[in-house]
Amino acid sequence: MPARAEFLFHDLHPDTENLLDDVLSGLAQPRKSLAPKYFYDAVGSALFEAICTLPEYYPTRTELAMMQASAGEMARLLGPRCLLIEYGAGSGRKTRVLIEALMPPAYMAIDISRTALRQCATALAAAYPLMRVAAVCADYTRPLQLPAIDISASRRAIYFPGSTIGNFTRPEALAFLRHAHAIAGPGGAMLVGVDLKKDFARLHAAYNDAQGVTAAFNLNLLTRINRELGGNFDIGAFEHHAFYDADEGRIEMHLRSKRQQQAIVAGHTFHFRAGETIHTENSCKYSVEEFQQVARDAGFTAERCWTDAEHLFSIHLLTNVVQTTKMP
Ligand SMILES: C[S@@+](CC[C@H](N)C(=O)[O-])C[C@H]1O[C@@H](n2cnc3c(N)ncnc32)[C@H](O)[C@@H]1O
Repeated sequence: MPARAEFLFHDLHPDTENLLDDVLSGLAQPRKSLAPKYFYDAVGSALFEAICTLPEYYPTRTELAMMQASAGEMARLLGPRCLLIEYGAGSGRKTRVLIEALMPPAYMAIDISRTALRQCATALAAAYPLMRVAAVCADYTRPLQLPAIDISASRRAIYFPGSTIGNFTRPEALAFLRHAHAIAGPGGAMLVGVDLKKDFARLHAAYNDAQGVTAAFNLNLLTRINRELGGNFDIGAFEHHAFYDADEGRIEMHLRSKRQQQAIVAGHTFHFRAGETIHTENSCKYSVEEFQQVARDAGFTAERCWTDAEHLFSIHLLTNVVQTTKMP
């Protein structure tokens, strides 16, 4: 069979129009907010990759090591000839570990970041020429029709690493898992990376790194609004603010206004008091049992869970068990 280094690229154009509407409505609320999916322009995706290598940011290292230790077992449980579908693929570094073990005939990556998605799909198509690769540039929080892929797969296996599920509030996570359950279909499966609850100091450090990379990632959202929507945010007049809210069980990231000021975006003026914030990201933390309950509420069976020795991170195998009716 000839080597296949190319891939299918489906661009559902998840960008500028939604960005404008969402920014204008988010900044008009009494408690201003912007959706975290807008962090990921080309600069934001590169900054996220830099965050992954920071000494304080334990999730990436931990999850990658867990994948390296357990991908063989994951592949055995998933079985041969899966159609592997990844949500929020990013650089695809952990995906490679899974692909090496699973050797799926086809892989579909979904990501809102066009640059990161192209790089990931190009690299994976070149590295695994016998695997069919499709890249879908889309916003998975909106209704999404996946393109057909011409292979006979035994089951669909959804991969959602990086604790990206933590960016959803708990009701949003349930809705997303219900959607994933439908996409996986009868007999399908899902592997989800979920960050665990832990001591507050460790969590605080992970989102307030000494080098200020997370701060740059957060502030880049305003730079993006200035560039793409003709905004005039004074970037130096805002600062990164991240803290753990124990009642909600989540890290919240905000951009805090250092002084009273105003910013104009697409002709709309927004006023900020000194100390007022824009809420930019949630990063919800779960116990193993809490996450398994959400997965069950979404219709999945919680089949297996892996954790690391320090109990920092979890990876869950969820299955969509085919219901059989017993004959009387
Ligand atoms: C936290 S990063 C995780 C990246 C990678 N999976 C990992 O584990 O390192 C989140 C990824 O999801 C993508 N993403 C975030 N929100 C999205 C959305 N609403 N639709 C599609 N992709 C999204 C980002 O572009 C980014 O690549």
